[in-house]
Amino acid sequence: MQTALRTSLPETELASRANFAPAARVAREERPLHVSGLPLSIRGLQKSFGDNEVLRGIDLHIPAGQFVAIVGKSGCGKSTLLRLIAGLEKIDAGSISFGDAAIQPEDIRVMFQEPRLLPWARVLSNVEVGLGRDRSSSDAHARAEKALTEVGLTDKRDQWPSVLSGGQKQRVALARALVSRPRVLAFDEPLGALDALTRISMQRLLERVWRDQGFTAILVTHDVAEAVALADRVLVIDEGRIAHDVMVNTARPRERGSAELASLEGSILSHLLSADDRT
Ligand SMILES: Nc1ncnc2c1ncn2[C@@H]1O[C@H](COP(=O)(O)OP(=O)(O)OP(=O)(O)O)[C@@H](O)[C@H]1O
Ligand SMILES: [Mg+2]
Repeated sequence: MQTALRTSLPETELASRANFAPAARVAREERPLHVSGLPLSIRGLQKSFGDNEVLRGIDLHIPAGQFVAIVGKSGCGKSTLLRLIAGLEKIDAGSISFGDAAIQPEDIRVMFQEPRLLPWARVLSNVEVGLGRDRSSSDAHARAEKALTEVGLTDKRDQWPSVLSGGQKQRVALARALVSRPRVLAFDEPLGALDALTRISMQRLLERVWRDQGFTAILVTHDVAEAVALADRVLVIDEGRIAHDVMVNTARPRERGSAELASLEGSILSHLLSADDRT
């Protein structure tokens, strides 16, 4: 199945749009085959910036390998929560733990809305950056090439980032995040700047790599349709806490726009709008 998928992956953005969907639909029938992810437990998490109390007590358990989406109005603390999980920001109070495992820095990766590629490095080197301290190991090239294959960009390995489309740059950023085989992968609105078709193609790619690799996925998005299409569970953050925790039990592959997903999306949107009305 993987071989079929890889050969079906795009040579160009255009081909991606034409060819990606049928192969992805076959692949998405299953949940992760093996779970490599770490569980995540957050207790009483608080974070303020000066007198701005952003997170006022987050309590959350995410089982290993779950795909969680986080939504909430702008400024509610979604990126702050991801940065705390990734260790990029200091906790004021509370705790974040990842089961009993001893965490290595490369176990947790974040992918941002901007691809943040190094303009002076070719595509393959940009992916190798994700290996961190393993970058000088003898299999660094091979691992980076494998990650590029996973995102369907092998043919771009020797290109400069400046000649890539927005969607291709995000796929390089995804390969850079995947190359270290992270056990928790956090996404901060990674598809927000993409056009609608490229966005859907990237959503399918995210779902496929999650299914193939079994990491724990945490996706911050402002797009509730995207959240219910991809996630096992959607969390709504409001006033510094988890205001709603909604399971998405719809079987995969999911049919976008189905009545079931639309109704779930409507109910999550109404939570968001009622939060917005209070401000
Ligand atoms: N480094 C910082 N210093 C001071 N204030 C900060 C810092 N980072 C975030 N904030 C503040 O914390 C609050 C939450 O910001 P955060 O970026 O987490 O929101 P968000 O939910 O990701 O919003 P958006 O949907 O617009 O990306 C905001 O009021 C923001 O101004
Ligand atoms: Mg943000």
